[in-house]
Amino acid sequence: MNRIRIRRPDDWHLHLRDGALLEAVVPATARSFGRAIVMPNLKPPVRTVAEAGAYRDRILAARPAGSRFEPLMTLYLTETTSVDDIREAAESDFVHAVKYYPAGATTNSDSGVRELERAYPAIEAMEKHGVPLLMHGEVTDGDIDVFDREAVFIERHLEKLRSTFPAMKMVLEHATTSDAIDYVNSAPGPTAATITVHHLMFNRNALFEGGLRPHHYCLPLIKRERHRQALLAAATSGNERFFLGTDSAPHPKHAKESDCGCAGVYSAPAAMELYAEVFEAAGALDKLEAFASLNGPAFYGLPPSNETIELRKQPWQMDRELTAGQETIVPLRAGDEIGWRQVG
Ligand code: NCD
Ligand code: ZN
Ligand code: ZN
Repeated sequence: MNRIRIRRPDDWHLHLRDGALLEAVVPATARSFGRAIVMPNLKPPVRTVAEAGAYRDRILAARPAGSRFEPLMTLYLTETTSVDDIREAAESDFVHAVKYYPAGATTNSDSGVRELERAYPAIEAMEKHGVPLLMHGEVTDGDIDVFDREAVFIERHLEKLRSTFPAMKMVLEHATTSDAIDYVNSAPGPTAATITVHHLMFNRNALFEGGLRPHHYCLPLIKRERHRQALLAAATSGNERFFLGTDSAPHPKHAKESDCGCAGVYSAPAAMELYAEVFEAAGALDKLEAFASLNGPAFYGLPPSNETIELRKQPWQMDRELTAGQETIVPLRAGDEIGWRQVG
C-alpha cells in the first residue's frame, strides 16, 4: 500500500503552550488534525471554565487562515476544584475533560493533586455529569523506580478509582507499559488509553543511542522493547479503547539540551506521517483510521470528522530545527527522513 486516505484524525492529548510558542505550534497540528484535546498545564494552570475560554480564544487566533481546527479544552484538577467548577465545565460547550496530574509528576504539575481522595467530590461530580477524567498515571514517590511509576500507579490508584466511580469515563494518558495495556483491556466501565507515536517508535535504548538523547526524554519515560510491543499490539488491534494522543510537548531547545532538561517530545510536525510509518511496519495500515479518527470520537461522544486526509509513501526530510518566535524547537526525527507524507 503506497497511499491511504482516512477520515481526518483528532489528537486526544496535545500541549500547545501559550504566547509565541503557541503561535508557532498550532499550524503543525491544524494541518493534520480536526480537533485536539488541549492539555491545561500552563503556568499558571487552566483551572476554570473562564480560563479555558480565554485560552481557547488565544488558540483560535493562532490558527492559520481558513483553518477549522477545533481545540477541545480541559481543566486542571486541583485539590480545590469544586463541584460547581465541574458542573460549569459540563454545561459549557468547549470543555471536554478534566486532567489529573499527581503533584510533581511532570512539566508544570506543581499545582497537581497530592492526596487523590481530596479530589473525590470533584471526581464524583465528573462521574455524575459525564466529564471524562484524563490521567497522567504515575506515582512520584522517590523510592519507586522511575521506570515503574506507571505500573505502581495502576495498582495503587487506578483500580480503586475505577471501583469507586464505576460509571466515570477514564483515560490513562500516554500509556507506556504492558501493565497499562493489560489494565485497559480488562478494566470494567468506560476505560481507555491514548498512545503516543514516540512510545510506538522507540524502546528505552533510544534515550542513549550513541550518547545521551535529550530530545527522546519525555514522561512517562520510554520503556523496554516488550512494552513497546504491547503498545503496538494495542494501537493496531482496532480495539476502541485505544486511540491516538501525540502528547506533542514542545520545549525550547536550550531547555531540553541542559544539565536539567525538560521532558517532552515535539512530534506535531510529522505526527500522522510517523504513525503511518509505525502502522505500515506492523502491517496494520488498515487499522490506522480506527485508532486515529474513529475510536477517540466514539469515547468522547463526538461525531467523527466528515473530512479526509491522504498520506502517501513519499520520503521527505524533517528540518533540523524549527523557529518559534525568539526560540528554537527540535522536532522528532530532526534532520532525518520520514517515509510518509500527508498530501491532502
Ligand atoms: C509534558 C509537557 O511537557 O507538558 N511532557 C512530557 O514529557 N510528556 C507533560 C506530560 O504530558 O506529562
Ligand atoms: Zn503527562
Ligand atoms: Zn502530555
